[in-house]
Amino acid sequence: MTEYFAPKNFNLWYFFGSLAMLVLVNQILTGIFLTMHYKPSAAEAFSSVEYIMRDVDWGWLIRYMHSTGASLFFIVVYLHMFRGLMYGSYQKPRELVWLIGMVIYLVLMAEAFMGYVLPWGQMSFWGAKVIISLFGALPVIGGSLVEWIMGDYLPGDATLNRFFALHVIALPLVLLLLVVLHLGALHEVGSNNPDGVEIKKGPKGNRWSPTAPKDGIPFHPYYTVKDLFGASFFLMIGAFIVFFAPAFGGWFLEHDNFVEANRLVTPEHIKPVWYYTPFYAMLRVVPDKLGGVMVMFGAIAILFLVPWLDRSPVRSVKYRGWMTKVALAVLAIAFVWLGKIGAGPGTDPVETIIGRVLTVLYFLFFLTMPIWTKLDKTKPVPERVTMHD
Ligand code: HEM
Repeated sequence: MTEYFAPKNFNLWYFFGSLAMLVLVNQILTGIFLTMHYKPSAAEAFSSVEYIMRDVDWGWLIRYMHSTGASLFFIVVYLHMFRGLMYGSYQKPRELVWLIGMVIYLVLMAEAFMGYVLPWGQMSFWGAKVIISLFGALPVIGGSLVEWIMGDYLPGDATLNRFFALHVIALPLVLLLLVVLHLGALHEVGSNNPDGVEIKKGPKGNRWSPTAPKDGIPFHPYYTVKDLFGASFFLMIGAFIVFFAPAFGGWFLEHDNFVEANRLVTPEHIKPVWYYTPFYAMLRVVPDKLGGVMVMFGAIAILFLVPWLDRSPVRSVKYRGWMTKVALAVLAIAFVWLGKIGAGPGTDPVETIIGRVLTVLYFLFFLTMPIWTKLDKTKPVPERVTMHD
């Protein structure tokens, strides 16, 4: 790490990759301890979680660290992805870093979904039912696919068992492997930075090495210390939530999930946890079921194409014109607003119209990207990063 040179101008946005790794480690460690007392059966799952919360020494802490960690994971990953969009980090030669990142994002969504089913609360059961049933919209194979995934006609013991297996071992292994590949792909080309300037192409020689890029600094001690500072700050926020607001007003742990799963009682509003709600809103505002499913999956799939949709000769938003800035702001607003709509009951017709407009705006960002990235007036990019000794 003392011989790996990273650009010296990383800002706050560059904390989130290491924070994502920190949360991943937290999830694995707390998950191991939860598994020691959790019972993956429909008859015992709910009460085993209650047992962890009330009787197991420090069980409540371990469980809240894990449940809070899940939400923090998505906060960190969404900011990490937005940083990539702002600084054009997915542009050549970092397409693979972005693509592997996107696969991580998909696996992370599956991992969190299966984890949410495990406590076998009302929202675990009904959330699983709604989401798995979406596959039923597929022509021909839909019905059998739903049955195959659940292993039953409703979410039940078989569903819980397989989700447990996938959640505690299969997907974490895949995630770990993908993170290694993500970093491997990144280190092959080196990090981008807020100026979007390729430091390897700039002048050579710095105080540590005559051949290293002039604008590079050794990862250790400079970024290890910086990341440690970021991690301390992040852990303070995390600890505050764990100790004082673990359910976070129903956003991190939904109220309905404190009630045991009951296949005879449907909760008033079935909704997923906040990190899925933007996509859930897109699903709901489309009147046709198959259409909604396609829009929802399309919204995620289109993110894979970003490296090839962007035609700008410039990477960072710092040296792009107003179009990029407006487009990024519209995307962020549409995503957050859709998230709010998806978390609501979905009964307000005005909100449904707004949701449709926002869904169109979301897709327009990507579909018209080749146009506005070409048209947008760019500023001259400096030869070197704009943070000098
Ligand atoms: C478990 C989840 C993830 C972990 C642990 C992770 C980890 C990291 C780390 C440690 C870095 C280098 C430090 C930094 O730039 O912040 C990085 C860079 C990067 N990641 Fe991720 N990442 C994750 C998910 C994602 C996702 C979902 C995407 C996007 C789809 C993504 C795209 C990128 C890109 C483009 C870079 C290079 C950024 C640059 O050089 O400007 N990552 N990642």
